[in-house]
Amino acid sequence: MEKKITVINGDGIGPEVTAQSVKVLDAVAGVYGHTFHYDYCLMGADAIDQTGEPLPRATIDSCLQSDAILFGAIGHPKYDNDPSAKVRPEQGLLQLRKELQLFANIRPVTTHNSLHHLSPLKEKQLRGVDFIIFRELTGGIYFGKKEKSEDGNTASDTCTYQRFEIERVAQLAFQYARQRRKKLTLVDKANVLESSRLWRKVVQDMSPIYPDVKVDYMFVDNAAMQIILYPSQFDVILTENMFGDILSDEASVLSGSLGLLPSASVGNLTALFEPIHGSYPQAAGRDVANPLGSILSAAMLLDHVGLANEANQVREGVNWTLKSGFVTLDIDPVNNYSTSAIGDLIAGFITRHAEQQGKTGHNQLNQSTII
Ligand code: IPM
Ligand code: MN
Repeated sequence: MEKKITVINGDGIGPEVTAQSVKVLDAVAGVYGHTFHYDYCLMGADAIDQTGEPLPRATIDSCLQSDAILFGAIGHPKYDNDPSAKVRPEQGLLQLRKELQLFANIRPVTTHNSLHHLSPLKEKQLRGVDFIIFRELTGGIYFGKKEKSEDGNTASDTCTYQRFEIERVAQLAFQYARQRRKKLTLVDKANVLESSRLWRKVVQDMSPIYPDVKVDYMFVDNAAMQIILYPSQFDVILTENMFGDILSDEASVLSGSLGLLPSASVGNLTALFEPIHGSYPQAAGRDVANPLGSILSAAMLLDHVGLANEANQVREGVNWTLKSGFVTLDIDPVNNYSTSAIGDLIAGFITRHAEQQGKTGHNQLNQSTII
């Protein structure tokens, strides 16, 4: 299989974690006979420095022409504390989501037995945690009308949703729930917000199309508490843009490290894959960041382009490093491995596993020949 992948390293630790994913994808390509063509493009602070804008046209064009996008991270401290900055790195990502109509952000939350001790939650709460957050990504308060008064003392952001925007992401969430434990929880604030009441109405209207999926409704403040109190109750969480942003960071603590969680953003055009963590500028260039969030995003990318077996190999490689204690600083502050060492180990696992499989095949053949 031949695929074109736009690679956007982005800011901070983006380049170093993404490099590990490319290493792993190259191992997959070598073993399974695929060809991945990478087109490196700019976005974020890096792009502002080099071109003056956070999302150059060339990047959008490359994304539109490719089969998938692998993205690192965005954000730079020099913009964070400057409310008057006219151009911000994050605008690049928001614009890209809009241009590519990436209306659904899919964030799986799982826990590993060997990492339970890292979570602030007790072991018994972490058992059986396996859910997916479907976050609406191109609407709501992020993209609504923004206003600031002349004197600069009043500001507003509007949260607007239209039925079709809710339907298309809800449809995906229902379909996923169907393949899983058949439970969908809509998280909203329907006791206060008109836009949330629309979400509830639309999901209620759609529910009869999926009679096998049990739908329940939860206010976002309660959901924030339930994710910590009793996280294994969730299967698929569906929610609007900003609630999803907040809840997915909260949910990441269940896994033990923000550095572990991947995400996929899908819509009408090319899909984008990125770890959920930020640019972590303090660690940039130090080869200490956890690349697993990015590598697991690359696994989601492989699934998306129809390479499910290859995607599972990558996940097995990741699980093997975690079980073996080959982990980065965030997971083990005493015995740890560098970002690039983890990439090498997983790429090596994939190559070795394929060789062993080849050997096993021959052995079986030999045996049956002897018999
Ligand atoms: C995320 C990030 C972005 C968001 C920022 C960088 C704009 O926090 O992908 O969750 O708020 O959506
Ligand atoms: Mn976020």
